[in-house]
Amino acid sequence: MTSTTPQTDTPSFEVHRTDTPVPDAEREASLVSPRFGTVFTDHMARVTWTQGSGWHHRRVERYGPLQLDPAAAVLHYAQEIFEGLKAYRHADGSVWSFRPWANAERFARSAHRLALPVLPTEDFLAAVTALVETDIAWVPTGEETSLYLRPFMYASERFLGVRPTLEAEFLVIASPVGPYFVGGVKPVSIWVSQDYHRAGAGGTGAAKCGGNYAASLLPQQEAYEQGCEQVCFLDASTNTLLEELGGMNVFVVKADGTVATPELSGSILEGVTRSSVIELLTAAGHEVSERPIPLAEVLAGLVDGSVSEVFACGTAAVVTPIGRLAGADFDHTVADGEAGPVTTRVRTELTDIQYGRAADAHGWMHRLV
Ligand code: COI
Repeated sequence: MTSTTPQTDTPSFEVHRTDTPVPDAEREASLVSPRFGTVFTDHMARVTWTQGSGWHHRRVERYGPLQLDPAAAVLHYAQEIFEGLKAYRHADGSVWSFRPWANAERFARSAHRLALPVLPTEDFLAAVTALVETDIAWVPTGEETSLYLRPFMYASERFLGVRPTLEAEFLVIASPVGPYFVGGVKPVSIWVSQDYHRAGAGGTGAAKCGGNYAASLLPQQEAYEQGCEQVCFLDASTNTLLEELGGMNVFVVKADGTVATPELSGSILEGVTRSSVIELLTAAGHEVSERPIPLAEVLAGLVDGSVSEVFACGTAAVVTPIGRLAGADFDHTVADGEAGPVTTRVRTELTDIQYGRAADAHGWMHRLV
C-alpha cells in the first residue's frame, strides 16, 4: 500500500506500509512496560543522499535490515552521526515532540563536524512526523513511556580511501520506551573514570557521533565491574574537571541553592535537556553557572555538606538522580534511595511540559499528530 503524506511546503514522504505489521495484541503487549531500546516499530523513515543528486527519495518503508556493502565507509572510518528525541502521548490522544528543531540543528552541526552532508531541518522534521504518523499506534500511553525516535546518518559509499563520503543514508527508527535505567526512576551510581577520556580538545566531543560512544564503552564496562551503572568522564587536558557521563550531562546542586553544570568546552555534548533544565532552574530562582567544575570541589562538597544533590540529564535519561559517586580512591553516597528536592522538582516540571500536564510557557512543544 503506497500513499504520500499531503504536505504543502514541507518535504513529502512516500509511505509504503508493510503488509505484515506486528499483530495488534503483540504490539499492545510490548507497549505495557517497554525496556529501553529493545522493541522497534513496523516502519522506518529514510532519505538518500548522493553528491550529484543531493537529498532525494524520501520514503517511509518497512522496518528491517539494511543492505550495506562490506566496503561502505561507515564500517571502516565510523563516519556516522545520530540523534535522540521522543514522541509523547498527551491525554487527548495527540502526540508531541520536545524542541525537535534543536535536535535538527544539532544534527546539522554533527554532520558538519563529521564531514557528512547537512540534512535540512525541514527534512529532519518531516521524516520524524511521517514516521510517527505511520506508526502512531506504537506511541505508548503509560506513565513515563514515550516513543523514542532515533534519527541517524551514515556514509554508505563503497570506497576504502580516507575522505568524506559521496553517498549517505539518513534514517529514523522508533522504539517505544520506559525509563532508561532498569529499575525505573531511582538514584543511579556513577564511576568516575580517571584512566580514560571520552573526547579531547578539537575532537568530536560536541558532535553526536557513534565514535564518541564507542570510546565510552570500555570505561562503561569498568563502571559495571565496579558496581556502578554509568561512567563519568573528566576532561582530557587536566583529568580534574567533570565533563559528562557516557550518555548524559551532569548537574551539581549546592546546599545554598546554586547549581553548576560543566561549561560547553567543545568536548561536551550540547544537550537539549541540559539547556532546558538550565532554563527551568533559572526560572525557578536558582543561580545556574556553566563553568569548569573540579571533581575535587564536588567530593569536598559531599563531605562538608555544601553539595546537596547531583543529577544527570538527557533525552533518554530525562532527569536522573545520582545516588553514589565512586572512583579509584573515593566512594561517596549522594542520595540515599531518594532524589533530592531540586532534582525532583525540575524533573516534574520538565515531564509535565513534555506530557502536556503543564502549560508550555517556553514554546518547546511541537505537535506531530
Ligand atoms: C539520548 O539521550 O537520546 C542519547 O542519545 C543517550 C544515549 C541513549 C545514547
